[in-house]
Amino acid sequence: MEKEKDQKFKELKEYISSFKSKEHSNSYLIAVLHKAQELFGYISQDVMNEVSVAMNIPTAHIWGVATFYHYFNLSPKGKHTVSVCMGTACYVKGADKIIEAIKEDLQISIGETSSDGLFTLQEARCLGACGLAPVVMIDDKIYGNLTAQKAIEILRKYKNQ
Ligand code: FES
Repeated sequence: MEKEKDQKFKELKEYISSFKSKEHSNSYLIAVLHKAQELFGYISQDVMNEVSVAMNIPTAHIWGVATFYHYFNLSPKGKHTVSVCMGTACYVKGADKIIEAIKEDLQISIGETSSDGLFTLQEARCLGACGLAPVVMIDDKIYGNLTAQKAIEILRKYKNQ
């Protein structure tokens, strides 16, 4: 396990040094964070520290970038990914109430994973199913015409699976 982790850190460092330009722009950092997430599944404190040393960027700046973009996970992903569409069509039909209800039910914020390791909560832009608004996607399955209550019932089904 440790060996596998070392190998991934090695690969990450090689990726960082593969950039010809040593210019530390945010787009360069974002590419590195994507690579880190692809390798480790999420961006842990250890990963941030490695990137900080390899790129000579303060950890606080890396943290700021990683938390600004919702597509970076800062904790291990849950078994299921719950993406609540916050696109316009869904928003006007109450997506905010759905996301609030899910946050409360799972006791997590966006980007976090429930303590039982079952769900990771994400916000999404239009999921391409506006006719069914408001929409939530769990893994690759779309649920439409939701209310907060219906969304919680669906989560319950996943919990009982
Ligand atoms: S805005 Fe939600 S599916 Fe299009």
